Amino acid sequence: MAGEGAAAPHVAGPIPGPRSSALSARLADVECPAFEARRDARRETSGASQSPIVLARGEGDVLVDVDGNRFVDLVAGFGALSLGHAPRAVLAAVHDVQERLPLALGDVYASEEKVLLCEALAALYPAPGARVLLGLSGADAVTAALKTAVLATNKPGVVAFHGAYHGLSHGPLAACGLLPAFREPFAAQLGDHVSFVPYPASAASLDASLAATERVLRAGKTGLVLVEPMLGRGGCVVPPAGFLRELHVLTKAHGALLAADEIWTGLGRSGAMLASVDAGVVPDLVCLGKALGAGFPISACVGSAEAFEAWGAHGGTAIHTATHFGAPPSCAAALATLSEIARLDLPARARDVGRRLVEALTENGFLVSGKGLMVGIDLESSSRSLAVARRLLGAGWLVLTGGTRGNVLTLSPALTLADGYILPFVEALVLACAEV
Ligand SMILES: Cc1ncc(COP(=O)(O)O)c(C=O)c1O
Repeated sequence: MAGEGAAAPHVAGPIPGPRSSALSARLADVECPAFEARRDARRETSGASQSPIVLARGEGDVLVDVDGNRFVDLVAGFGALSLGHAPRAVLAAVHDVQERLPLALGDVYASEEKVLLCEALAALYPAPGARVLLGLSGADAVTAALKTAVLATNKPGVVAFHGAYHGLSHGPLAACGLLPAFREPFAAQLGDHVSFVPYPASAASLDASLAATERVLRAGKTGLVLVEPMLGRGGCVVPPAGFLRELHVLTKAHGALLAADEIWTGLGRSGAMLASVDAGVVPDLVCLGKALGAGFPISACVGSAEAFEAWGAHGGTAIHTATHFGAPPSCAAALATLSEIARLDLPARARDVGRRLVEALTENGFLVSGKGLMVGIDLESSSRSLAVARRLLGAGWLVLTGGTRGNVLTLSPALTLADGYILPFVEALVLACAEV
């Protein structure tokens, strides 16, 4: 993963190529129109084509489209592919189980893989006696945290943060602070139990954020404070030191639980196995997803024995379950992923490669935020960031835009990213910015 084996990007001719164009036109005819509408809006904002490529295969850091163009992937499945595309150890573990037991019987009769995974996840939690609820998506893990908190505290209120993202099924959507546009069309179905407070992007805004949180907590109706240890989709925003610790103290003092949404930061990406624990906090609940399955759908809400105790009072019916929760192939993928993260010491690698990437970017005058391999590059406006991202795609570099104003290029590459890509990427970025 270090240096050699870094295949150069290669794009032959304008993108999308003919096969991508034909396939995406067919998709646009049958898929929900939301995605084509977003592309139209982005084309209007940026003046740059947003016509999609269609992907055929991936290996490590490299993606190949159906026209044979080769891209270096600095998005890695929205941060889910921490081990890169098609990691051999995970594929082998999944293949074995897939052949033998594609589906067990959820919460009724488990597989051995589920037993081992729940043990491994409980051991990640930094206090004894931890409990685990598995899900398929990040939104499932957040939903489990929301339900756990209301059972444990009997208080339905939630504090969430402006700029935060927790997934889009109805429970997490109500707590989505990234943009009001996500919630507005569904507002009548979401209730009014969530209070939004500012996320502190700097030391100067720390007191105001904590004071706003305390004002809500004082009303006595809040059972959960839901927080990202760093804003991910919100633009790779790192809060000031002490924020999570003080937030936890406040939360406890008012009889609420603290849930750290580590779906993006967790499992090494931020440079620590858990960003919240690295910040000196043992949250009552930790939500994991994305990287947990290395591309296979699995998530988990892990928490203290006390936080989970109230679930035990609900005999008779399993009040939180789903057909595919804890499916053996996904559990096997997660077990193999956890073991690869430890074997390759990927939190340390994320710190190391992230530091070098940030250094190379800042040396070239870019305004950079983030930690580990969650890196944001502020390009001032969404029109500029979209246009630069498109130029980069044309040169064979895959990046996405993020941030509450869409002005940030967000990089979330594999934690195994080959070193040899750092400098060529920064050179391509400098060139793309000069052309836009
Ligand atoms: C911090 C955070 N929480 C939750 C989610 C939702 O995860 P999913 O898309 O798997 O539902 C995301 C997805 O980007 C995320 O970044």
